[in-house]
Amino acid sequence: MQNRLLIKNKNLKTEIIIRKNYISKFIEEIANKNERVFCIFDSKVKNSFKFTKQKNIKVFSIKCGEEIKTINVYKDLTEKLIKNNVNRRSIIVAIGGGTLGDLVGFAASTVLRGLDFFLVPTTLLSQVDSSIGGKNGINTNFGKNLIGTFYQPKKVLIDISVLNSLPKKQIKSGYAEIIKHALINDYSFFCWLEKNSNKLLNLNKSFLEKAIYKSIKIKLFYVNKDEKEILLNNNSRAMLNFGHTIGHAIESHYNYKKYNHGESISIGMITEAKISNYLGLLSSVELERIITHFKKCRLKIYDYIIKDKLLINKLTKDKKNYLNYINFSLINKIGSSIFYKKLDKNKVYKILKNI
Ligand SMILES: NC(=O)c1ccc[n+]([C@@H]2O[C@H](COP(=O)([O-])OP(=O)(O)OC[C@H]3O[C@@H](n4cnc5c(N)ncnc54)[C@H](O)[C@@H]3O)[C@@H](O)[C@H]2O)c1
Ligand SMILES: [Zn+2]
Repeated sequence: MQNRLLIKNKNLKTEIIIRKNYISKFIEEIANKNERVFCIFDSKVKNSFKFTKQKNIKVFSIKCGEEIKTINVYKDLTEKLIKNNVNRRSIIVAIGGGTLGDLVGFAASTVLRGLDFFLVPTTLLSQVDSSIGGKNGINTNFGKNLIGTFYQPKKVLIDISVLNSLPKKQIKSGYAEIIKHALINDYSFFCWLEKNSNKLLNLNKSFLEKAIYKSIKIKLFYVNKDEKEILLNNNSRAMLNFGHTIGHAIESHYNYKKYNHGESISIGMITEAKISNYLGLLSSVELERIITHFKKCRLKIYDYIIKDKLLINKLTKDKKNYLNYINFSLINKIGSSIFYKKLDKNKVYKILKNI
């Protein structure tokens, strides 16, 4: 892998840069080219970067986690920006994990009806998934990500050197989204992961960069075909939601406390692979192969709540639904996904009881 990799995406007008040890320089460069820069840091990473303090850089920091994706934190942040004289030529830079990116992206897209926004993801999950594709948002009491916009960052900088401080639990969370990309789209990538998961989980740099690059390409494939998630077919951006219909319901049920995002969607992926198998879409041999890989990587695969009626009420709040039906993004083979429409909620309950 080269030292610097650029993915210029013309449709989205986003530039994705993969480059090591570059974050401080990146901030200085933005400050040199723009009138005013608001850098919003995850407080856990703020002190890792030493950039020249220029007068036009204003630094905020936020203690991050799912609990910041609320209307109250959004209100505080946007009012702070306005109080500090943000204007239409200001640049917003978010340096942190997926929760910070989702919150700040939403703020950037709405303050003064939209400001230029740059993203520096600092968790594996945000590097392989949430920083790509322009979705942002906050949660409500009724479910996850129910308020938000589609708003593309101008640039995304992926610097894997920042991952050294990331706890193993968070690395596994990001790895879950990498597997998701392989499962929905790329059989040979899944085989490669089966061979190399240990190296990835131990942050072997060249393997990690390859997996990040592959993941981004797969995500961009769907985002370019269906940026606003309008399609209801196998090219829909919703395919990236494999594991998330169940996963989001689990997160919401436990009020985002019991599991992190990657853990919830790991349980979600195994449950939805079982649903795929129950519906005759995925063979039992392939289902077992997937479960074996999850077990080898010590990813979560089960929680008793999936058999509880309470989860069904959460499932009906999913954004992919319409009328009384639940829509799933399922897999019909390893590396191939299918948009599965209109499962009646009683049928889903029955399936979940039986798998
Ligand atoms: N917008 C999208 O398309 C999209 C896609 C996937 C997931 N998401 C969202 O992303 C969120 C999850 O993101 P996440 O897993 O990055 O969670 P996170 O932002 O909560 O980060 C996880 C933890 O790691 C800490 N952290 C961040 N960078 C660190 C570093 N370099 N070293 C040490 N600690 C660090 C954070 O402070 C936090 O405690 C969820 O809210 C999920 O819904 C969004
Ligand atoms: Zn996800």
